[in-house]
Amino acid sequence: MDLFEYQARDMFEAHGVPVLAGIVADTPEAVRAAAEEIGPKSGGVVVVKAQVKTGGRGKAGGVKVAKSADEAAAAGEQILGMDIKGHTVHRVMVAQGASIAEEYYFSVLLDRANRTYLAMCSKEGGMEIEQLAVERPDALARVPVDPNVGIDDAKAREIVDAAGFDEADRGAIAAVLTKLWDVYREEDATLVEVNPLVKTSDGQIVALDGKVTLDENADFRHEDHAGLEDALSADPLEAAAKEKNLNYVKLDGDVGIIGNGAGLVMSTLDVVAYAGEEVAADRGLTTPPKPANFLDIGGGASAEVMANGLHIILGDPQVKAVFVNVFGGITACDAVANGIVGALDKLGDEATKPLVVRLDGNNVDEGRRILAERNHPLVSIEGTMDGAARKAAELAAAAK
Ligand SMILES: Nc1ncnc2c1ncn2[C@@H]1O[C@H](COP(=O)(O)OP(=O)(O)O)[C@@H](O)[C@H]1O
Ligand SMILES: [Mg+2]
Repeated sequence: MDLFEYQARDMFEAHGVPVLAGIVADTPEAVRAAAEEIGPKSGGVVVVKAQVKTGGRGKAGGVKVAKSADEAAAAGEQILGMDIKGHTVHRVMVAQGASIAEEYYFSVLLDRANRTYLAMCSKEGGMEIEQLAVERPDALARVPVDPNVGIDDAKAREIVDAAGFDEADRGAIAAVLTKLWDVYREEDATLVEVNPLVKTSDGQIVALDGKVTLDENADFRHEDHAGLEDALSADPLEAAAKEKNLNYVKLDGDVGIIGNGAGLVMSTLDVVAYAGEEVAADRGLTTPPKPANFLDIGGGASAEVMANGLHIILGDPQVKAVFVNVFGGITACDAVANGIVGALDKLGDEATKPLVVRLDGNNVDEGRRILAERNHPLVSIEGTMDGAARKAAELAAAAK
């Protein structure tokens, strides 16, 4: 889960990382009130900052300096409701204005390819780091971090040395890096990025922007992280699926997909995308049928889980046909078939879209017999995964 800047800021503060005062506001009046409260700390100057989960807000006009509460309210008026790279601005943060002497870059992240953590640091922050990494790779120090040791004083020193900071600044910057490591470790993050980390004109090192990605696998030991979720932008189907403990990801197509096992569902997405292209070519369609979602109902495909899954998928107005792809293992095909039949009965009139079912594996004959016997008008049974994908894509194309 990615955090908003203001959430990262609060997290930084809680771990002793130096940050500036900031207040979140969602109306121009609230921006004015926040500016009146914060402004006096920084000579009347505040910065109004769009809170959206994407970078480059400054370039997009989502970060504005205001020299009075009036100017701040006007900036709030402009920024609230703005669209930045497809993200609507629902809130801004009114931050204390910093007098910036220098802008640096720092991040620590999970380096999957090298099976370690990696710290990156540069004297030249502010600009987009991807660009710096490509154009001037030498200006970006990359220092592997041993997970068992982390960024202790010695490692922080190694990082600031590698980045080539002025000797006089190294101690103060290193001290902040160890605090940013505390955020990374104690909050179970996979990314902590500060761009820019600044030196102010009076010599303070301050995190002016913050990007934090939390590892949701560690949610069980961070009850407070649930409160960081963004209810305003959450997809309603994903939220409903989460409530039912389903592994569901909304995608942009029209073929709903249910399978058991993440690997099977991933390959089902590929097969449906491929079949969709074929169907589009055959019919001369400009927009091919595509997968509408990822949904893994896991091992025990009971009627209830199947019904919950179908309920979510049928609730997606984009879905025109559903592909149920199940490989019977510990939960045999007859149990799955009973699950599908039970789910359809449970859903009743709510089940309105055609269902293509492919069953294989343990006790497949009995499973197919159960479905054939029920003979539900919306259900067709296919023998192969490719055949079922093709059929589902055709049904979706026909409904366009
Ligand atoms: N509180 C602040 N005081 C002064 N300048 C700021 C402040 N916050 C941001 N800035 C300036 O705006 C730039 C962009 O802001 P930042 O928070 O990094 O957003 P983004 O990375 O999304 O563009 C920063 O590089 C910095 O120069
Ligand atoms: Mg930034």
